[in-house]
This record gives sequence, structure tokens and C-alpha cells, in this order.
Amino acid sequence: MNDAPLGVFDSGVGGLTVARAILDQLPNEAVLYVGDTAHSPYGPKPLADVRAYALAVMDDLVAQGVKLLVIACNTASAAVFRDARERFTHGAGIPVVEVVLPAVRAAARATRNNRIGVIGTVGTVNSRAYVDAFVANPAIEVVQAACPRFVEFVEAGITSGPELFAVAEEYLAPLKAEGVDTVLLGCTHYPLLSGAIRRVMGPGVRLVSSAEETANDVYQELVEHDLLRTATTRPRHVFEATGESATPFLALARRFLGPEVPDVDLVQTGAIPIQALRRNR
Ligand code: DGL
Repeated sequence: MNDAPLGVFDSGVGGLTVARAILDQLPNEAVLYVGDTAHSPYGPKPLADVRAYALAVMDDLVAQGVKLLVIACNTASAAVFRDARERFTHGAGIPVVEVVLPAVRAAARATRNNRIGVIGTVGTVNSRAYVDAFVANPAIEVVQAACPRFVEFVEAGITSGPELFAVAEEYLAPLKAEGVDTVLLGCTHYPLLSGAIRRVMGPGVRLVSSAEETANDVYQELVEHDLLRTATTRPRHVFEATGESATPFLALARRFLGPEVPDVDLVQTGAIPIQALRRNR
């Protein structure tokens, strides 16, 4: 079991920001990553649909023998975390790590004035998962804003320019009006827009994303459950995309994981395995 991979998934490439943080903190672990590109994006879809897609992907990861599940997608975490913990942790003894609570902890630590802005997809914002998660800190005031076009910009490779800045000004206006000192980037794609968000919010505002804190939760779970990989051979990472084509996944994977993404090897089936990532650090 210790040498089994970590099962990490997202609606597409966004969860690679989380996979990257996991690989940085746990370089001896193997990752089996699924991008559910057949159903991407999750953000604008009804949460019930997202829940069904996410459970199906996690069933598949469990069938492939992963030792721990990481819901590396904010919309999916908002939609399915409780059900996933019930089904996989209580039902099958497989720990499940998600991205909402780690980000909330990090933001609560970062704020000085107890005003936190949370930005995410329409699904995440409407679910109020972040607002609920902050209830444990009653002194904290949360201002939410959905930023649906941010995912489009990132996937088009646009991280600056007048159109993005104008959209960002509009989305972030309620956060500025409330004087938040911390912005929680509640979507896998938003760390790639940190520069634009910082430019709009001003240099004094802290940006918090869930990637590192989530990787830390994975680390703690592995240690706690005595699940760290013991093999001394180089871990083999596998990347899969669902649907008919892996092209959208492939086109973006390098931007999210870094220049170390290797060549890819496609298998034309429903789930498309993409060859191992080798990081030469
Ligand atoms: N991965 C999604 C999230 O973090 C963003 C992309 C999508 O809408 O599927 O919410």
C-alpha cells in the first residue's frame, strides 16, 4: 500500500498547481493525476453534476489502487468533500484531502484586519463552502466574488493586458470596497493571475492559495497513517485525461506544472494516460 500512488484529480489542468506543490513537498511519492476534461469546466455547472463527475473520477482512482485521494479542484471540493469522506475514508479507509479547509486556515492566519475576500468560480461561490468554513472564526468577515472569466484568461495564456485588468477591476471592486487585507484564491487557476490580482488590489493585500497548504495536509495524512512511500526507486507519475482527446490537457499542462513536463504518450481510450512527468530538481 505504501508504494501505491496518490490519486489527484481536477476538472482539467488546474489541479496541477496542487500536484506541483505535492511533488515539491513529497518528491518520493508517485502521483496518478486525472484531469476530467470530458466534463471541464466544473465552475459553471450545477453542483449536483460536479458531485457525480467527481465521485466517478474518485471511484476510478480507487479502482486503480491509490492510497490517498486529493480533490485538487475548488469547485469539486465545495460540491463533494463530505460525500467523498463518507464514501472513501469511512467506507474504504482511504484518506481524502481537499482544498477548501487548507486555504481557509492559511487565510485566517494571514489576515490582520479580519476582512478576507474569497474569489472562485460561480459554483464555488454559490455553494458558500468558504463562507461556511470561516464560521469557526466568527471575528472574520468574508466577502465573496465569482470571477468566471479568470479561468478563460488563464487557459488562453493571458495573464496581463488591458482586457484582463478591466475585468479584474470589475470582479474585485466589492473586495476593495470592503477593505479586505487578504484575498483567498479559491480556484486552481487563480495563482497564475497573482500579478494581475495584486496589481488591482494593491501591494499591501496578501494573496493566499491552497496549493501549498493542501500539500502540507497530504504530507500530514501520509505521516499520520504511516503511508509514506518506502521504495527508493524513482517514483513514476501518470497523468490521465478523460474524454475523446487529451489535446486541451496537453496544451496547458506545461504552463501549470512547469517546463519539466515531458513528451506525452497518448492511448486512445476513454481515459487517456499521459506519460510520466520527470522533474530534474
Ligand atoms: N478547477 C476549477 C476550480 O478550482 C476551475 C476550473 C473549472 O471551472 O473547472 O474551481
